[in-house]
Amino acid sequence: MKGIVLAGGAGSRLYPLTLVASKQLQPVYDKPMVYYPLTTLIESGIREFCLISTPHDLARFQQLLGNGKSWGISIEYREQPKPAGIAQAFLIAETFIGRDDVTLILGDNIFYGGDSFQRAFAEFKGGATIFGYHVHDPQRYGVVEFDDDGRAISIEEKPKQPKSNYAVPGLYLYDNNVVAMAKGLRPSARGELEITDLNVAYLGRGQLRVYRLSRGFAWLDAGTSSSLHAASAYVQTIEERQGIKIGCPEEAAFRRGFLTLQEMETLTAGMPHCEYREYLLNAVAETKRLS
Ligand code: TTP
Repeated sequence: MKGIVLAGGAGSRLYPLTLVASKQLQPVYDKPMVYYPLTTLIESGIREFCLISTPHDLARFQQLLGNGKSWGISIEYREQPKPAGIAQAFLIAETFIGRDDVTLILGDNIFYGGDSFQRAFAEFKGGATIFGYHVHDPQRYGVVEFDDDGRAISIEEKPKQPKSNYAVPGLYLYDNNVVAMAKGLRPSARGELEITDLNVAYLGRGQLRVYRLSRGFAWLDAGTSSSLHAASAYVQTIEERQGIKIGCPEEAAFRRGFLTLQEMETLTAGMPHCEYREYLLNAVAETKRLS
């Protein structure tokens, strides 16, 4: 399965921070925001990436992440001329997707905890898979309604009267039909190709699977100054308490076997002396000790 990181958008709610850098390049505690969704997909076994951003910001992402080789992955880049909707990503990345299945993650979504995603990726057999996460303000999101047997029966985008508290987070898995289905979408009233319309189409075909994320799972989005600050505070709290990092792509690639011990040593040797490097050196040392 291939992976798309969607990191465009206007980022208007973060103005004037976005005069300095796009939303997904802002710091979330000790790393750029885009490290978090990238790590989530690497942890799920994705190795081939396409990052989509605005014509203005794409070069900055390329400078930061390069072709991915030093992390044992590959990254291609594509422009989204205007924020015309999340589902447009499948049209922009059509040649990248080729004949494969594809997962899309939003560049400002931060996930932490549990193994629900790894399980969902391992169990994916076609159709579409999305997730449901209990929130207090579902009207801001796509909302999924379940029947008494826990089966998804409806999905609505930003409903005024939500039928449940389960919002759909920004991580989606699709089979290759998604490209053809995205081509059939018409822009919504707000002028966007809606990811919710794609999910509704899969639901209508009886091919949508929705996993409910458990209570212990954290889903943060960092789209406003306040939620960006909260995300930083959350990451700092967990990292200081546990001595493990959230959203560390090098570590995830290493643990996943995308990087050998030797490649990891070369990678850390090129880093300045800092806490991040120390952390990775410890991860390497621990692996050496255990092997
Ligand atoms: P949003 O947070 O809904 O929008 P935004 O990032 O443009 O921010 P604001 O509302 O403050 O102007 O987007 C969610 C994520 O999806 C975010 O990472 C940007 C990305 N996105 C795109 O890259 N292209 C798009 O066409 C849309 C709609 C979103």
